[in-house]
Amino acid sequence: MHTLIRNIKKLLLASDNSPKIVKGADMKNLSAIDNAFVLIENDRIVDFGPMSAAPERGAEKTIYATDAFVLPAWCDSHTHLVFAATREGEFIDKIQGVSYEEIARKGGGILNSARKLQETPEEILLESAYKRLLEVQSYGTGAIEIKSGYGLTFDAELKMLRVIRKLKEMTKMPVKASFLGAHALPVEYKDNRSGYIDLIINKMLPEIAGEGLADYIDVFCEKVAFSVAETEQLMEAGAKFGLKPKIHTNQFNCMGGIQACVAHNAISVDHLEVINEEEIACLLKSPTMATLLPSAPFFLNDHYPQARKMIDAGMAVALATDYNPGSTPSGKIPFVLSLACIKMKMLPEEAINAATVNGAYAMELSGEVGSISKGKLANMIITKPMDSVAYMPYAFGTDWIDQVMIAGEV
Ligand code: NIG
Ligand code: FE
Repeated sequence: MHTLIRNIKKLLLASDNSPKIVKGADMKNLSAIDNAFVLIENDRIVDFGPMSAAPERGAEKTIYATDAFVLPAWCDSHTHLVFAATREGEFIDKIQGVSYEEIARKGGGILNSARKLQETPEEILLESAYKRLLEVQSYGTGAIEIKSGYGLTFDAELKMLRVIRKLKEMTKMPVKASFLGAHALPVEYKDNRSGYIDLIINKMLPEIAGEGLADYIDVFCEKVAFSVAETEQLMEAGAKFGLKPKIHTNQFNCMGGIQACVAHNAISVDHLEVINEEEIACLLKSPTMATLLPSAPFFLNDHYPQARKMIDAGMAVALATDYNPGSTPSGKIPFVLSLACIKMKMLPEEAINAATVNGAYAMELSGEVGSISKGKLANMIITKPMDSVAYMPYAFGTDWIDQVMIAGEV
């Protein structure tokens, strides 16, 4: 089955030697072909170029993208899509002045989500997570990473990871799973931190690896969660089971988490609302992606990562949603692009590179998604008619996506 998308006003990020990662000054370059076509065979891109080179006939299906842009679907490399319940109560608490960290210290926050998830049957979790997956797909997401971390017991963490595995089977978009057993310290372990770390390392990890349930290990490296030393211990244990680190760090404090993650070959360090010169220098010399999640500081009314400083220093950054019930009840990459531009002074082109090419890199999916290249999955966004790339982050809140194609299907 062939599908031809034709008369595309501008085809973005279409290249056969698309880089795996875009850094620094290169982030503002977004390749574009005017008046273009893309040819898809089954689930893959087989050709693209200017309309003058478009095949005349032979496609069973034709999509006219007149006046529209076509670009790769978003690669959302950081989400907590599986959860049992929303947390509007804490939203009200925050409006009335209680901080996110205070809520966490009082046993709310992640522990609140964990209590609910532990009681919720797997089928119910799957049903709600699948709805969210379809929702984010409608916003243009075509590859996603999903974390555990709201289980915090052996059974509940495995339950979450099994839900993620079922989601992988139910969708045609690539899904990566991260094991985030070290998201918060369960109350039962309040006076026995090493007991919980021990449970993760000696019980959870072997079972998870045995069943092949996770691609990555994640830790919430933060004062309210786990220390750098604990994070290192967990990264080392994960490595023994073939799980590379993708780590939550520098959300509220600079504690040396970035340096530790880089030393342990982390694929990405995520959040980075706070960062110092030494940490920027460390990331510059490493292949670790800096993944920024501006919807979280938006929702928590916190300060934003210094994306401008990072990019100007030569770093690569990725953008992701962090979709979760506590700090980011939103899985909408187009809004993330707007925040990136408005609050972090990223240019529209930089934001798009960050949510596509660099997002794919942060999930080790560069060979499959992130650009429009021959052989890659046909995961693309077809916009409504628009005049420029800048319209996408500019028109925040406007539904400017017309169609989303996943594996060749609209
Ligand atoms: O990435 N910061 C740690 N974890 C999530 C939020 C978890 C929650 O509040 O439920 C995040 O923001
Ligand atoms: Fe997160």
